[in-house]
Amino acid sequence: MPESPSLYDAIILGAGGAGLMCAATAGQRGRRVLVIDHADEAGKKILISGGGRCNFTNLGVAPDRYLSANPHFAKSALGRYTARDFLALVERHGIAWHEKTLGQLFCDGSARQIVAMLLGECELGGVTLALGRPVAEVTHADGRFHVSHGDRTATAPALVIATGGPSIPKLGATGFAYDLARRFGLKVVEPRPALVPLTLPRDDALFTSLSGVSAPVVARCGKAAFAEAALFTHRGLSGPAILQISSYWRHGQTIAIDFLPAQARGWLVAAKRARPRASLKAALPLPDRLAEVLAERIGAAGDIGALTDARLSAIEAQLAGWPFQPNGSEGFAKAEVTVGGIATDGLSSKTMAARHLPGLYAIGEAVDVTGWLGGYNFQWAWASGWAAGQAL
Ligand code: FDA
Repeated sequence: MPESPSLYDAIILGAGGAGLMCAATAGQRGRRVLVIDHADEAGKKILISGGGRCNFTNLGVAPDRYLSANPHFAKSALGRYTARDFLALVERHGIAWHEKTLGQLFCDGSARQIVAMLLGECELGGVTLALGRPVAEVTHADGRFHVSHGDRTATAPALVIATGGPSIPKLGATGFAYDLARRFGLKVVEPRPALVPLTLPRDDALFTSLSGVSAPVVARCGKAAFAEAALFTHRGLSGPAILQISSYWRHGQTIAIDFLPAQARGWLVAAKRARPRASLKAALPLPDRLAEVLAERIGAAGDIGALTDARLSAIEAQLAGWPFQPNGSEGFAKAEVTVGGIATDGLSSKTMAARHLPGLYAIGEAVDVTGWLGGYNFQWAWASGWAAGQAL
């Protein structure tokens, strides 16, 4: 709808997944809604997600697959707007989809279909979109929020912060949500890059020389463990298993990699009995270059037949928990999401409304709720957006 009056029931800052879902929900409930975004196009992260096919949800969504200072916070919204609800919307719009792996649902065609669907739903709700509008000022007086954007000022009794986190600044991501939240009295849990490749120190050069090699592993950090592929890069470690574990990793912590998770206990001793003349490298059922580097690091030269069973068991244990101590990550420039954000203790888990300031809401990635890789973050965007949209 064209932008005309400056008085609305709700102003939503951010036309990403969460903001659009919130706007459509509130608009279809009869609310006059304005969405403002500094980007000239809505849903830019949706467009590039899932390799252009948008991994829009996951059939395995459960609260324990989200990180937050309050692990219970996401339960209510995720329980009331589920992966099945979003899937039903996708199907109503005739968008073909498929399950790829581990419950991850993707469009058959293009992520553009998801943005078009959300914009269509906003249109049904008579939502006004103001794109390409940097927000100059946000104030609150007499129970109303005033937002100056471009040469206009819009006013509403409700303001929704949906400007996401600072991951991938070149896509227009900013820390604006945190600044605004702090100004209105909400706390912010320290934001960190998450779902991000990790970097290795120079003395792990042998591993960075494996750039491009990948293998199915189990990556562990503290109590978290992910069985997926790991990929060596020229700077360190990547691939789904590493992206997942990066959300749990903190500076100084060790990540343990099980390079041979499918092997039964005692497999290397059994390999010695079957092929005593084989070298350790030849006995490792791994990509050639990886087997070579691991064997070189272990330093067991000669035939495995010459090694004692005890030594082979020790090597097996070493391969099942190879320690890596990353010296950092690729940072917000490469992070798919942000861990941390607007503290949930100041928000209602049912409506996403700020407890102390009537009319203020925060949704999506801006909030301290971060999902696993695989459609979990969009499901949080949809669910939290829907929850706020029901309350506006
Ligand atoms: P989002 O960041 O999408 O939207 C925020 C909006 O606010 C943006 O439109 C931005 O322009 C606007 N904005 C920011 N600052 C502003 C300001 N100062 N003034 C005005 N507007 C401002 N997740 C998933 O579940 N499946 C997937 O396949 C992927 N794939 C993926 C790939 C890549 C490369 C990235 C970077 C991320 C993903 N994700 C993902 C994560 C997912 O994209 C992310 O969790 C959601 O987009 C978050 O939605 P939000 O609406 O909260 O923020």
